[in-house]
Order: sequence, then structure tokens, then C-alpha cells
Amino acid sequence: MVLRAWLVFVLLISILDNLKLAKGDSTEHARRRLVDQTPGFISIDCGATSDYLDEGTGIFYKSDSGFIDTGTNNAISPEYYSLMASPNYVRQIKNLRSFPQGTKNCYTLKPEQGKNSKYLIRAFFFYGNYDNKNQPSKFDIYVGVNFWTTVSLSELNQFYPPWDTFPDIIHVPLSDSICVCLINTGSGIPFISALELRPLSKSNYPTNFGALSFGSRLDIGASSQVELIRYKDDVYDRLWLSRSTLLNWVPINTSSVIDTHDSNDSYQLPAQVFENCTYNPFNGGKYYVCFHFAEIAKPTQGKKREFIIDVEGGNYTSEPITLEYLKPLSICPQNGQPFEGGFRFSINATTESGLPPILNAFEVYEVISLRYKPTDPRDIAAIMYIKQTYTISRDDWQGDPCVPHQYSWSNLTCSSDDAPRIISLYLSSSKLTGKIAPSISDLTALQYLDLSYNNLTGNVPEFLAQLPNLKILNLRGNNLKGSVPEALIQKSRDGSLVLRGLQIEGIHISFLNFLNSIFIFILIFIFLGCDIYPEVVEMTNSFQTIVGEGGFGKVYLGILKDETKVAIKLLSPSSKQGYKEFQAEAQLLMIVYHRNLVSLVGYCDEGECKALIYEYMANGNLQQHLSGILVYT
Ligand SMILES: *[C@@H]1O[C@H](CO)[C@@H](O)[C@H](O)[C@H]1NC(C)=O
Ligand SMILES: *[C@@H]1O[C@H](CO)[C@@H](O)[C@H](O)[C@H]1NC(C)=O
Ligand SMILES: *[C@@H]1O[C@H](CO)[C@@H](O)[C@H](O)[C@H]1NC(C)=O
Ligand SMILES: *[C@@H]1O[C@H](CO)[C@@H](O)[C@H](O)[C@H]1NC(C)=O
Ligand SMILES: *[C@@H]1O[C@H](CO)[C@@H](O)[C@H](O)[C@H]1NC(C)=O
Ligand SMILES: *[C@@H]1O[C@H](CO)[C@@H](O)[C@H](O)[C@H]1NC(C)=O
Ligand SMILES: *[C@@H]1O[C@H](CO)[C@@H](O)[C@H](O)[C@H]1NC(C)=O
Repeated sequence: MVLRAWLVFVLLISILDNLKLAKGDSTEHARRRLVDQTPGFISIDCGATSDYLDEGTGIFYKSDSGFIDTGTNNAISPEYYSLMASPNYVRQIKNLRSFPQGTKNCYTLKPEQGKNSKYLIRAFFFYGNYDNKNQPSKFDIYVGVNFWTTVSLSELNQFYPPWDTFPDIIHVPLSDSICVCLINTGSGIPFISALELRPLSKSNYPTNFGALSFGSRLDIGASSQVELIRYKDDVYDRLWLSRSTLLNWVPINTSSVIDTHDSNDSYQLPAQVFENCTYNPFNGGKYYVCFHFAEIAKPTQGKKREFIIDVEGGNYTSEPITLEYLKPLSICPQNGQPFEGGFRFSINATTESGLPPILNAFEVYEVISLRYKPTDPRDIAAIMYIKQTYTISRDDWQGDPCVPHQYSWSNLTCSSDDAPRIISLYLSSSKLTGKIAPSISDLTALQYLDLSYNNLTGNVPEFLAQLPNLKILNLRGNNLKGSVPEALIQKSRDGSLVLRGLQIEGIHISFLNFLNSIFIFILIFIFLGCDIYPEVVEMTNSFQTIVGEGGFGKVYLGILKDETKVAIKLLSPSSKQGYKEFQAEAQLLMIVYHRNLVSLVGYCDEGECKALIYEYMANGNLQQHLSGILVYT
């Protein structure tokens, strides 16, 4: 469950500098157009076939091909084209990308400023019967590893966000790239029309949390028409809805609109003047609110405008506020502390005031709690590099590898740490070619690595021995050459690493042939769950002969009914960590079988009975003989 709250958004850069609400001075417009570089903006028209400059906004939109590998391009049904005649971003609704495959599909955004900067992110969804099924869908979107919102579309509401709000999210990512993921929750195919990222100034928003969900951003003045104000009037390309009344907004006794004609300033902020204005409660959660003011009436002799902001239920009453002519003022109560629970605010003139209060714009944000932390960034970098190096294509290898847990990548497992680590990687039969990638050595929490049955070439690299936690390494079925590094041999000798599929050049053939005569091969033997335990006791003659000691328990000699000898490795009950290793080893060994190497005959993993049963190798401790070929620990 996502905790929510609202936030005051500190508008740092002044309204007058950045938020030119009025379409005033044309030379000012012209000047801005010349310097229009949309710096740092990422603007993606999902499903579009080419990049283009959007004339309406002056924003350069890219097709999404460089941001995502999955999904298919679609166009809305022509009957909806007429909608694009309306202003603003609507050109972007024509195309979209849908994701019939996979549960999680992610866009990867790499903003220039990188991590620990503030970004505003927003997405648009317009169904427009693109699939000719007239079945608008419902799905979730995540930013990074955390839930953002549910996009719910219906035949009546084909557009998300709805017209009266433009939910965006303010996010400070912990890594240089930001994933925006669409999650199929079983209510139709996810799709997306446009995705936008805007860098924000670091100081214009409270920093004590990681993300804010936009609730409301209103330009109170302007006109009675609903109009969207964005870039270039707002350098951050926030979307401002200009409306004098909206939803719960109750302007009380709207008197005159200030006549700004005698002002000679290009920043003529149209504003409605309210005698007392009240915003009805937001309920629950945590809110941040910010009020933006700019005096647009030339001061009249003897009359001053003075007012008080009162947030009922929010424990806040401002000092009396007076405005200087054309100087913007942003008031974000409580220094960035959110209001909890419901609240309403009012702006009242003081008794000294000769003029009614004024409000130009306000913003309300809700705090989204970032419940989950992403995977350790080193592991993310390493696995991304591995994915790229071997061009691994898995539907679900998108976004964060481990988080959220229910959408983690296939063929790997992660620890349950706060910032999870990748602890196993199963890339058997995955058509990997080339050398063993050095970035594997960056996965330092790795315990199990299975690269078997690929076409890996080159040497067995020394760096594999430097993986401090590696317990099982399977390289069987590749075209590796050269000798096994001494460090690996050493690790397998001291029992800390199980090596599978490694042979020592030159000597291994004859040596193994010799060993073959000693090995007792046993075909698959299926144990029948836990009632086998008494049999294990019997087989080992009550654990009489210890033949070795492994990472998580002792190894006993056992004899099956047909007189074949087996080695039985028992998980010692005191070993808690050992159980995970035990399971992984059992899983790994079950899928690996080679006549020259020790085989897992069976295992037992139920109740008290936790044992791995191997073919038995006579002749004492084979590790001493088989350095590098290794068999069991
Ligand atoms: C506006 O003010 C007048 C008196 O000045 C009052 O009669 C009226 O009820 C007020 N309207 C609202 C909506 O409060
Ligand atoms: C506005 O500015 C222009 C040039 O700066 C000046 O000629 C004009 O008189 C001014 N108008 C007013 C109403 O102040
Ligand atoms: C309001 O402020 C007072 C004093 O600063 C404090 O004790 C009280 O807990 C606050 N109440 C709320 C709801 O924040
Ligand atoms: C402001 O006006 C509203 C509505 O008239 C009233 O409920 C509120 O108590 C007033 N607040 C202050 C601080 O005067
Ligand atoms: C506006 O607020 C002032 C100060 O709180 C109060 O005296 C006045 O009655 C209010 N006016 C309305 C219309 O609520
Ligand atoms: C990889 O994951 C897929 C999907 O869960 C599974 O079908 C496949 O067997 C896995 N491959 C390996 C080598 O574990
Ligand atoms: C494995 O790779 C080698 C060298 O790149 C190539 O000659 C061989 O055909 C590949 N084998 C398979 C089965 O893909």
C-alpha cells in the first residue's frame, strides 16, 4: 500500500522570470524562441515513426526506438484524429506503443544531469481504439522500482490523465538512468502515448523525500476558459491549468479583475482577485502546498493589499503578507514539511487591507513513499553490461533486475537486502558466445553461476576466483580452452567452490579414462520425499563413515540396496545459511550431468531430511587427484 501525501512545491525561479502567464510581449516571445533548446528535456512520442519538432510547443519529440526494446507501434483509430486539432501536446496521442508481451515493459531514460537531480516526469495515454477492440485497458506504472499510479481507461475516459489534472511525478533518482515501467496487471494490454522528463532546479522542491505525485497545479487568474500553459511560458514545462473555478475551488465574491492595461511590463499576470478564497479539504495523506503571488496592480496612493494565508487543519497561519509591485512571491508553508491529514486553506484580507487578497497560482503535491530501494547499482551496471555483451533477450529483462520482487528478472535470484544483490545467475543454454565477460566479476554477491551449454570461448578467467561468495560455478558444455586458473583450483580444493565442467588440458583425457573405471555411475535415482530419511540412516549405517566435509555439512558413505556406493551430504541442522546453498546446489546439480563428472543421484529436501546424494568416488579424497576437474566438496 502506498502511503500518500501532498506537498508544497517551491517555485524557486520566479513567476515573472519563468512563468509568463499572459501572452503579452511578442518580442519577448521571439527572443525565447531563438534560445529554445529545451535543455535537458526528454520528450518521447511513443510509437512515432520519426523525430519532429512540435510546432505548438517548440519541443522536439523523439520516437521511442532508443528508449525501449519491446512492444509494438500502433496508431489510434482515424475517427479520433479530430482531437488533435486542439492545442498543446495532442499530436503525441496519434501514435502509441502497446505491450502485448511480457508483464513488465520499461522505458529507460538517461537524463544529462544524471542521478541525485530532480526531475519531473509525466506520461500520457490515449486509447483511441488503436486495436479496434474497443476495450480500454487498466494497468500500473512504476517509476524506478516504486509504484506511481494506476492508469485506468474506459470508453468514456480514453485519455489519461483526465483533463482537469496532469499528474506528474517529481523524482530524485539514485542512479543515472530512470526506468518507467508499464505493468500488465491482467486488465488489458498496457500502452503509452507520450513520456516526458524535465529537469528541475535542485532547490525548488523539498528534498527530504524521493518522489512527489502532482495533485493540482492551477493558474488561478488568466481567463475563464480552460487553457493549458506550459513550455515556453514555464521553463520547466510544468503544465498549468488556467481556470478560475475547478473542482472544490470556491472563489468567494470574485470582484473585479485587475486592470493591467496601464502596466508597461511584459509580465502582465492576469489574476482574479478574491475577497476570501477557500480550497476545500484534501483528505488523508500528506500534502505539500505552494502559493504563488505577483502584484499586478500599480500601487494606489493610500491603499495597500495585505492578507493572511490560513491552512485550517494544517496548523498554519501566515504573517500578514504584502506584495511589491510586479515582484513575485512564492509561499510554501512549513518550510517543506507536509500537511498531514485533511486540510483547507483560505486567504483573507487583513482588516488594514484596502484591497482584497490575490492569488495567482497554487500547487498541491502528494508525497509518494518510496517503499523499495533499487538493486545495488554495481549489480545493475554489471548485469546490464552482461545483457548487452551477450545480447540476451528475455521479455522480462527490463527495469530493475530484483525490484519489485514480483516482477524480478527470470534466470536470476536476488538477496532480500534493503538494496538487493544478485546472488545467482542461471544462463544455461542461452546461446552466449565470446569470452566470459569481465563484468561478471562485478557481481560480487554472486553465489551460483551457471553458464553451461553455451558457446563461450577463450580461457577460464582468473577473476572468477575473486568472486568472494561464489559457491557453485558451472561452465560445462562450452568451448573454453587453457588451464584452469590456480586460484579456482585452490578454492575447489579447500571446499569453498564447486566447479562443474572444467577439465585440465593435456592430462584430462587419460586421467579421466582411468577414473572412469573407478567411478561408479548411477542412473537417476528418485527419492520419495521424506520417508526416505530412515533409508538414509540405513544406507549410511547410521552415519558411520564420514568421507568428507563440505560447506554446509558432513559427507557420509552410503550403500544402496543394489550395493552401489553413494556419498551422502547432509545439511547440518545448525547451518541456517546452508539451506539456501543446499537448495541451489541441488537445483544446479540436478540439471547437470556428464559422464566424466560426479553426478547427483538424488536429493531429499523435506522436513528433517536434507541431503544431497552423489555417486561415490572410491580411492579416497578425489579432490587431491582431480585438482581442477573437481567433483564434489
Ligand atoms: C458576496 O458578498 C455579498 C456581500 O458583499 C454576499 O451577500 C454574498 O453572499 C457573497 N457571496 C458569496 C459567494 O459568499
Ligand atoms: C511603455 O514603455 C514604452 C517604451 O519603453 C513607452 O514609450 C510607453 O510610454 C510606456 N507606456 C506606459 C503606459 O507606461
Ligand atoms: C500544531 O502546532 C502545535 C504547536 O506548534 C503542535 O503542538 C501540534 O502538534 C500541531 N498540530 C498539528 C496537527 O500539526
Ligand atoms: C478567512 O476567511 C474564512 C472564510 O470567510 C474564514 O472561515 C476564516 O476563519 C478566515 N481566516 C482568518 C485567519 O481570518
Ligand atoms: C473575508 O475575511 C475577512 C477577514 O477574516 C472577514 O472579515 C470577511 O467577513 C470575509 N468575507 C467573506 C465574504 O467571507
Ligand atoms: C529462464 O527463465 C525462464 C522463464 O522463467 C525459464 O523457462 C528457463 O528455463 C530459465 N532458464 C534457465 C537456464 O534457468
Ligand atoms: C561456437 O563458436 C565458434 C567460434 O565463434 C564457432 O566456430 C562455432 O560454430 C560455434 N558453435 C556453435 C554450436 O554455435
